[in-house]
Amino acid sequence: MQKKWWMESVGYQIYPKSFFDSNGDGIGDLKGIEEKLDYLDQLGVDLLWICPFYDSPMDDNGYDVRDFREVSHFFGSMEDVKSLIAKAKEKGMRILLDLVLNHTSDEHPWFIESRKSKDNPYRDYYLWHDGKWVDGLRKEPTNWGSFFGGSAWEYDVQSDSFYMKIFSKKMPDLNWSNPKVRDEMAKIASLWIDDGIDGFRIDAVSHLDRAPLEDSTYEGEFPLDWFKFSNLPKVHLYLNELHDKVFIKNDVVTIGEVGGEASIEEGLKYASYDSRELSMVFHFDHNWCNNLHDVHQTKEIKVNLPCLKNAFFKWQDAFKDKGWLPLYWLNHDHPRLISHYGSEKDRTQSGKMLATLLHFQRGTPFIYQGEEIGMMNYPFEDIKEINDVSTIAAYRRYLMETPDDPVLALRKAVIRSRDQARTPMQWSEGPYAGFSTSTPYLSPHPNYKKINVKKEMNTKGSLWRHYQHLIQLRKHSDLKDLIVYGDFHPELVSHPDLFCYRRTYQNQSLFILCSFSKKRINVDLKAYQMDHLIVSNHPKNTIRQHTLFLEPYGAVVYRLKEEL
Ligand code: GLC
Ligand code: CA
Repeated sequence: MQKKWWMESVGYQIYPKSFFDSNGDGIGDLKGIEEKLDYLDQLGVDLLWICPFYDSPMDDNGYDVRDFREVSHFFGSMEDVKSLIAKAKEKGMRILLDLVLNHTSDEHPWFIESRKSKDNPYRDYYLWHDGKWVDGLRKEPTNWGSFFGGSAWEYDVQSDSFYMKIFSKKMPDLNWSNPKVRDEMAKIASLWIDDGIDGFRIDAVSHLDRAPLEDSTYEGEFPLDWFKFSNLPKVHLYLNELHDKVFIKNDVVTIGEVGGEASIEEGLKYASYDSRELSMVFHFDHNWCNNLHDVHQTKEIKVNLPCLKNAFFKWQDAFKDKGWLPLYWLNHDHPRLISHYGSEKDRTQSGKMLATLLHFQRGTPFIYQGEEIGMMNYPFEDIKEINDVSTIAAYRRYLMETPDDPVLALRKAVIRSRDQARTPMQWSEGPYAGFSTSTPYLSPHPNYKKINVKKEMNTKGSLWRHYQHLIQLRKHSDLKDLIVYGDFHPELVSHPDLFCYRRTYQNQSLFILCSFSKKRINVDLKAYQMDHLIVSNHPKNTIRQHTLFLEPYGAVVYRLKEEL
């Protein structure tokens, strides 16, 4: 069995723009994170993934990097990063940098050079193409669509050609087949390691290789055909090179974001113990297990429990003896957990159930900021309230489909909007939710007087305290080895309301039962030898004569009797 420091960590994801504003300009910053280290320490987390804070024109809030070795003036300075790293270390916390490999900003000096002329030395840093001629007209080289809508190519007047951009037009894609690009990125990663970073969350990592430039056969003018730029063979060569040149020497942890419908086989190629690429992968299989793929059905969100079970169970099974997984529900690109998979009416109870379901699995848990207090989706009513580039693009698309119904277009755009996760962290019932002393760049959720950190920390039985307890059990209790390293076994798989599993380590085992039912349910547990209760999210969850009574959204964790 492999044991590593990062397997025993509990992660916390920070979206710096929305976390805490230390200087009152309405935008979160690095000093703001530093001021909240005590808070994070009290919660118990010790591995912070901080979304990008590089210098950037902020088309995509920092994922459009203008200078990989400079800090955005919105967020602070290089000195602030160094101070944050040092203070975090004092508290035994480590920091993951969000490493953006696939693209830069169009304002990055490499791109400014690259677009100057076809013989510029930086030309091959990006993916340029003259386009194709159809009926005397110049068209995009392929019909591929981009993630944020429209073509994956942008015409550039200056050098009279197209560049590839699978996200926004302000984010041109780097040419990873150019060894100079690979060297530059390896150098950047090494410099950050020298500055004290302990690892990387690697952005959009599955997209570094491209298919041959042939049209997609999907329907539509610019169809989003993931297979043209996701999980293609050379990604693995590039990552292997980075691993050998940079990662392995420094014992850093690396977690790649593998969109593009990465299969389990792909996941293992990236991150099995012997893959020599990454330590872990963030896959997306469990993100949309509800009725939201059909955005018309927005009346009541319904969880698809078989889909959730299938997603978690199959990755657990595949990585069993072969690798390690990060455990997370949703991130800064998704709606809020309570609104998506829990119940806004039954926030504390459903939030505790969802936390329990995740935190007892095998892997390294990550909490997304605000999840620990049960923050919810925002009641957006006007597109002007939106900041996110991809939501605005989606709204325009929907509006073209239903020009007479802007309300429907807005509803469709906001229900999946990335801004749901980006409204300011709700620290207190004070002005602007205690996030800032002036108007924040996105409004805080109107429920902040009821739902905020201060209140959650001070209330017995709160969701926050439940998270703190789960972390404490994983990190400091005598169940630690069982929770961290134990094997994972799905249980009661076909039960319509329950998500259940067992963890076993040496001769000890834990049994985790989580209910998605809005009603009280009974579960027959004759087949199991229950011992004592470890965690419960409601005092009325009880066992009487082999029958477990679970409250709505109930969750319990029992120790099973030891097998002798
Ligand atoms: C990743 C990030 C997302 C960003 C995109 C482009 O998916 O999580 O926020 O927009 O990459 O960098
Ligand atoms: Ca600020």
